[in-house]
Amino acid sequence: MCGIIGITSARGNVVPLVLEGLRRLEYRGYDSVGVALAGGGGLTIKKAAGRIDDFVRTSGVARLSASTCIGHTRWATHGPPTNVNAHPHTDCSGRVAVVHNGVIRNYASLREELEGRGHRIVSDTDTELVAHLIEEGLSGGLGFLDALARALSRLEGSYALAIIHSREPDRIYFARMRSPLILGLGEGANAVASDIPAVLTVTRRVVVIADGELGWISPWEARLYKLTGNGGYMEVPLEEVEARVKLVEWTPEAASKAGYPHYMIKEIYEQPQAVLDTFNGAVEEEDVERAAEVLASASKILVVGAGTSFHAGLVFTYFASRLAGVMTLPIVASEHKVYTPIVDENTVVVAVSQSGETYDTLESVREWAERGATIIGVTNVVGSSLDRESNITLYIRSGPEIGVAATKTYLSQIILLELLAVRLGEVMGALGRSEASRLLESLSRAPEVTRKAITAMEPLAKADARGDVGGSMYILGRGLGYFLAKEASLKVKEIAYMHAEAYPAGESKHGPIALVTRGFRVYILATSDSPEVAGNAIEMAARGGDVVVVKPSDLSLELGVKARVLDAPPTGGDLVLEPFSLIPYFQLYSYHAAVFRGYDPDKPRNLAKTVTVE
Ligand code: M6R
Repeated sequence: MCGIIGITSARGNVVPLVLEGLRRLEYRGYDSVGVALAGGGGLTIKKAAGRIDDFVRTSGVARLSASTCIGHTRWATHGPPTNVNAHPHTDCSGRVAVVHNGVIRNYASLREELEGRGHRIVSDTDTELVAHLIEEGLSGGLGFLDALARALSRLEGSYALAIIHSREPDRIYFARMRSPLILGLGEGANAVASDIPAVLTVTRRVVVIADGELGWISPWEARLYKLTGNGGYMEVPLEEVEARVKLVEWTPEAASKAGYPHYMIKEIYEQPQAVLDTFNGAVEEEDVERAAEVLASASKILVVGAGTSFHAGLVFTYFASRLAGVMTLPIVASEHKVYTPIVDENTVVVAVSQSGETYDTLESVREWAERGATIIGVTNVVGSSLDRESNITLYIRSGPEIGVAATKTYLSQIILLELLAVRLGEVMGALGRSEASRLLESLSRAPEVTRKAITAMEPLAKADARGDVGGSMYILGRGLGYFLAKEASLKVKEIAYMHAEAYPAGESKHGPIALVTRGFRVYILATSDSPEVAGNAIEMAARGGDVVVVKPSDLSLELGVKARVLDAPPTGGDLVLEPFSLIPYFQLYSYHAAVFRGYDPDKPRNLAKTVTVE
């Protein structure tokens, strides 16, 4: 994980821009932070364990000025989050400073080798070894780029690197292998970073760096090269670089809090627009129809993703079955190896990932593509690894999501996947034209249902979040409701730090009900495919459970017991609308519970938004 950034500019001090970029990258990790600046013949390094705001307050970094600066925000892998392990890391001479995202797998042997040759390695990190390897090339008389390429040829694993050298104060070197990296090309200023929002203060012209590429930027120039093996490299011609420039639609404001106290609540409120943008973008998209045709011709369909993206994938499996009569197998990305033996050239994979950079999801895609599978990627990030490695990419177009919790991208993924299921139903002949049109009309109402759900449910969610004192809860559902409960419980766990377990309501009798005694909170997430959940609510209430039923207001359930009922916006029994009606309550509950208890909902402990390690 970790976020890296480097900015070099002829227009003045870039330190504030690097710090702002680091704030936008904090979703990638936030246990340590640091910067390195070149100038005056040497390097200045400031770094510390802890959050960026404390770092800015206490380190004196805000008083520094430089035209070239690199920065890092860390999610610890090698070594605990201490001042010494914070990036940037330097070589023995202190002339080379490196920031890194990724994991160097041959760390132990490289370290032993370097120490054997007399290098003094002061941190526990794999990153520091890169600085020492470059140092060896430089002291052997190589130019910087040669020394970098030689160093890269020794690394196994993944890296996105930004590097400065005291002798070239106007340059930032960079390299990428299996960790995301983009270049931002501005006017008299260039940047390199892990992600697009971090460079939006400099430019919206972006080039996605590919695996095996390296290069350098100065305020006026950007040069890209490709590794050829054994320390060799060749230049990528400028025309080819220019052809890869993308003008990103995201604005700097989209990546700011815009007056909201946290990104998470801003992104919850952005959901109606995000869902509308996804729907409008996808409904005319030929690739959605192409994807449906590819799916229709598959002999096996695997749906893979992690966390919230996996939960959106579950919703796809539900509607593929219900609307298209098509069987799909949902797979948690980190467990993908179990299923590799069944993958062949007649397999189609729907890979869902907001970032398009989740390690496990990419590993599954790579492994299965090697066996001949066709990959349909569903992502928010144009140019991400998933985008580049998919045969067909479907973009959700939610705009940047900075809060660690996936909120707007979940509902965007759902509307896109529901649309895909409708198209699949048409191709399979399971849906007639009029039924398909009716479903599209329903989907077009999803943004409005989402808006109403946020408005109606926020006061309830806020009051409930303040009233609850923690402990443990079940969130039960049947059918679609169970898949939505999985996402609801993930939000409660990761943001409010409360134990919430999603369970199929019918299955709860086979063990979990043993925990239910007086006052035990049981949410019932009721969807219109499963009125039987009323029976489960009754069973839980009979054992003293504190039962709260969340349902669309027009879904009537015969409860007949003491249970609190929270009415979400009506859906007319239209299942495709029910995620939009029911999910906002749980997002808002988690958010307000976190804020009320003094937790940071944007940066929950131990988490990073994009998990780029195994
Ligand atoms: O970028 P991705 O969608 O691949 O990320 C997958 C998960 O890491 C992500 O959904 C995670 O579970 C979030 N914390 C959920 O809020």
